[in-house]
Amino acid sequence: MINQIEPWIDYNELRELKRVVDSTFVTEAMLTEEFEEMNRELTGTKHAIAMSNGTVAIYCALKALDIGPGDEVIVPAMTFIATANAVIMAGATPVFCDVYEDTFCMDIEKAEELINPRTKAIMPVHLYGQSADMEKVMEIASKYDLKVVEDAAQGVGVRFLGKHVGTFGDVGVLSFYGNKTITCGEGGMVLTDNDELAARCYKLKNHGRAKKGIFVHEDIGFNFSFTEMQAAVGIAQMKKLPEIMERKRKIYDRYLTELAALKRLHPVFIDPRTDPVFWFTSFLSNETEDLSEYLLDCKIQTRRFFYPLHLQPCYQESNLIKKGNNKKYSVSKRTYDKGISLPSSYTLSEKEQEKVIIKIKNFYANRN
Ligand SMILES: Cc1ncc(COP(=O)(O)O)c(C=O)c1O
Repeated sequence: MINQIEPWIDYNELRELKRVVDSTFVTEAMLTEEFEEMNRELTGTKHAIAMSNGTVAIYCALKALDIGPGDEVIVPAMTFIATANAVIMAGATPVFCDVYEDTFCMDIEKAEELINPRTKAIMPVHLYGQSADMEKVMEIASKYDLKVVEDAAQGVGVRFLGKHVGTFGDVGVLSFYGNKTITCGEGGMVLTDNDELAARCYKLKNHGRAKKGIFVHEDIGFNFSFTEMQAAVGIAQMKKLPEIMERKRKIYDRYLTELAALKRLHPVFIDPRTDPVFWFTSFLSNETEDLSEYLLDCKIQTRRFFYPLHLQPCYQESNLIKKGNNKKYSVSKRTYDKGISLPSSYTLSEKEQEKVIIKIKNFYANRN
């Protein structure tokens, strides 16, 4: 089977893990600090705070901003479900917004229609290695005095107008889940330039205290700590990031060139203001289901786009979320129907990619 996505893990990770074994420090310590510093360098933020995963990082970002029961947070309908569930976890209500047809990121004109006195924040998602329109997000945030939490879980290495995603708003969040551009197995990072928010996020993940080893707790907090093992893998992965990004761009370029003649398979639009990371190479097609089934028969795994939030079974009878008229999410639904992500791992060999290309051409041979 050619996997749609898999991590690039080798002796480099092992070498960093040996440092953990040698040091005997396993919960967060020196290597976690080193990994946080690498994240500060990559993104240019003042603070980078490692968390167990991206979902709790979003939760902490929202709580640090005092967002909770009675507050509404606008999220895109086309995203991984953790975006909305983290809002629910904070006690606030996610309000679903449709996305742009071209970038699949939040439609800011439609977001503006959802704003009411309960709206406290807007949470753009930088989807599939692209960036949300942060010019427009920051414009409406300032017009309506909203907080901005950027879900950059999929955005490691992505830049908008030269600035790393996750650094435009009050707080941004990265994820290092196993399928991400770089991974720690599980892991998240809170990014912020705001000293007070950084201190609050740290306390929230550390049982409500500003340091470890003290047992008088100023605030109520939890345990979302990182581990040195995650940091070790993250350090090795961060060193590989430029090479991973370059390889993924080459994979994308080859798919684009070789499949350009297929009239029924459309490449996704790239906003010229964005320096994307081709985490996944995706296309739009009217035959997504048939194509993915055909490729699976050829032992090639692909991935459909995220199932839109307004259609998720778990939300159908739920009063924890807010959705308007379903028609409002027609773009998210259409994007889901048409989107397909092809094998895009760093580890995809030239020969494997050739097989994917040949099989796709075969599939369309009788259809064009
Ligand atoms: C858009 C988005 N938001 C949030 C998350 C949650 O991150 P994690 O899996 O690290 O909890 C993910 C991915 O997993 C994601 O893709």
